[in-house]
Formats: sequence, structure tokens, C-alpha cells
Amino acid sequence: MTAQNFTPKPYTKSVENGSFTWSSPSNIALVKYWGKKEHQIPENPSISFTLDNCKTTTTLSFVKKKNEDKEYSFDVYLDGEKKDDFKPKIETFFKRIEGYLPFLKEYYFKIETSNTFPHSSGIASSASGMSALALCLLSVESELSSEIDDVFFIQKASFLARLGSGSACRSLVGDLVVWGKHEAIDGSSDLLGVKYPYEVHQNFKNYQDTILLVDKGEKQVSSTIGHNLMNGHPFAQERFKQAHKNLSSLINVFKEGDLDTFIEIVESEALTLHAMMMTSIPYFILMKPNTLEIINKIWSFREKTGSKVCFTLDAGANVHVLYPENESEQVCEFINNELVAYCQNGHYISDRIGFGAKLL
Ligand code: DP6
Repeated sequence: MTAQNFTPKPYTKSVENGSFTWSSPSNIALVKYWGKKEHQIPENPSISFTLDNCKTTTTLSFVKKKNEDKEYSFDVYLDGEKKDDFKPKIETFFKRIEGYLPFLKEYYFKIETSNTFPHSSGIASSASGMSALALCLLSVESELSSEIDDVFFIQKASFLARLGSGSACRSLVGDLVVWGKHEAIDGSSDLLGVKYPYEVHQNFKNYQDTILLVDKGEKQVSSTIGHNLMNGHPFAQERFKQAHKNLSSLINVFKEGDLDTFIEIVESEALTLHAMMMTSIPYFILMKPNTLEIINKIWSFREKTGSKVCFTLDAGANVHVLYPENESEQVCEFINNELVAYCQNGHYISDRIGFGAKLL
């Protein structure tokens, strides 16, 4: 598959106006995407759990313009409030995808979006937000073309979402999604996310993720700056190799339900992501003291009880606590008794593996 596959043939139908609403989830990477080439091509493959509760719902209303001009026309609203500061990011997205959606300048778009998680929770909305918008745009294209079947719809929406935000291409389907070419994973591609195609043991069904909100501030390092830090990074090539190797190992882990190796890979990936940031120029420490307190508590709880709870991190201070469904009661009690104290205002979000985006 190449990018060419997503350039449409001339449209055969026309539509004056309409509206679509999609709800699309966030995702949490187990093997991390960190480092990209031109055109949002990842330096290494990644894999994530699709989440269930952390979602963006976007309604895209569109009206054909009377005179086609050379500008994009759109407005963006978050929770009913006009957000002109969101426009540059969407404008960049439109520019990147225009070759694949040639109708963009022919319509005025109203983009109304809301998140199930608070805007200032330190939870990035780019994966859920960009995937929801990409899906809405594909729904518009489906009105114009008779060539889009269900499989192609999701492929192209993921391809477009990637151009909005890399990790967004992993948010369309459940429950485990791979993005980036990996030699042992059939169908894997640098261009879009695909559902993990092999056997997944019962241990990983309905896996739980409690997100501990340690720091709800704005991101200290934007993802674009973060990814760029991998250009010329002294450890970059080894890191990219390690991601391939970790993904290879996960194939057997998923098949066998090997939770101990799962924990080792997932925690190592999280710490490596942060180690990359600490060893780049400029360098950053995105963990907070409470992030470390939580990690140490998780390690001693595991030691004491034999639990299979583990953690992962995004490019920030919040901690994702991951655990199998059959440990829910025990781990929730541990979180409430020992970890909530380290969360900002005691806030956390309970989530689990989900099944992907929905047309509403
Ligand atoms: C640390 O997808 O936000 O969450 O492509 O620049 O939009 P852009 O980056 P983004 O990067 C996410 C990085 C990560 C790891 C991951 O989700 O794999």
C-alpha cells in the first residue's frame, strides 16, 4: 500500500450540505512512537490499547460554498465555545490532507467537539480529536464517491488521522492497534494503524487502565518538539531497534498471556521514552516527584502481593496503571488507599480497553 492509494478518482456524486457525528477514543501505547520522519512517518512501529472512556465526540456540519475560493473556511467549537486558537492546527491538518480530500475548499465546515475528559487534565486530546475529525471528513467523502467500502473507509480515515497526529491513527478500531511496519506483523504499515492480527490471550481481554492525574498543566514539551529531539539523538538508532524487538516479543506475550514479560516490556518502554527525553539536547524531565512515588508504590505492591499491576507513561507526568480485569477489586483498593494521595486534587480516570470509534 502506498499513499497513492488514498488519492481519490474524480467524484461522481455531489452534496450541498449535511452533518456527521463521530465519537473516537484515545489510546495508550505499550511500545511507544517517539521519533518521526517527514510526512508523519514513524521511526519505529508502535502498538497501543484503544481506550473506552476517554473520547472525543465531533460533529462536522458542512455547506457547499457559493463561490469556490482559495481558502479553507471553518470554525471550531469546544463545548459550545468558539475556539479560534484551535484553528492553526486544523489548518495545518487540512493542508496535509488536501491532496487526499480535494473537496476541502469547496465547503464551509463547522466543527463542534467535546471531550469526555477535562481539557486541562494533562490527557492529550490529539489522538481522539484528530481521529474523530478524520472520520467525519471521510463520511463526507463517502457522500461524494461510490468507491468507499467499509474496509477502505477505516484505512483511509486512519491514514488521514496520522497526518493530523501520529498516534491518532491508532484510535479508530479496538482493541490492540499496530502502527508502523514490523516484519513479523502482517499488514502493518507506516501509513496507518491496523488491528493487531494475531491471537490475544484471555488475560488481556478487558484490560484495565486507571489514569492517575499527577499534573494537569499544559504539556511542557509539544509532541512535535519531542519527536524532533530524536533527530541526531545519540541513542536513537538503538532505541528504534529496541522498539522492533519489543514488539516481536509481545507477539508471544499476547499469545501465551505472559503477564510478567508484558510488565517488563511495558514498563521498560515507558522509562525508555522518558530516558530519551532526559538524554536529548535540549533535555527534559517530564516526570514529577509524585510520578516516581507512584512507580515505587506499584513496585512494592507487586513485590508484596504478586499482583500483575504495572504502569506506563505518556510524554508527561500522569501515570497509566494497567492491570488485568480479574485484579480489578484488589488494584482499585490499592489505588484508593495508596496512590490517590499523589494525584492532583485526588483526580483519576478509570478506563479500560475499548472497541474503537463509533458513528453516532
Ligand atoms: C509519547 O501522536 O502526539 O504518546 O505525531 O507529533 O502528533 P504527533 O505526536 P503524538 O505523539 C505521541 C507520543 C507518545 C507515544 C505514543 O503514543 O506512541
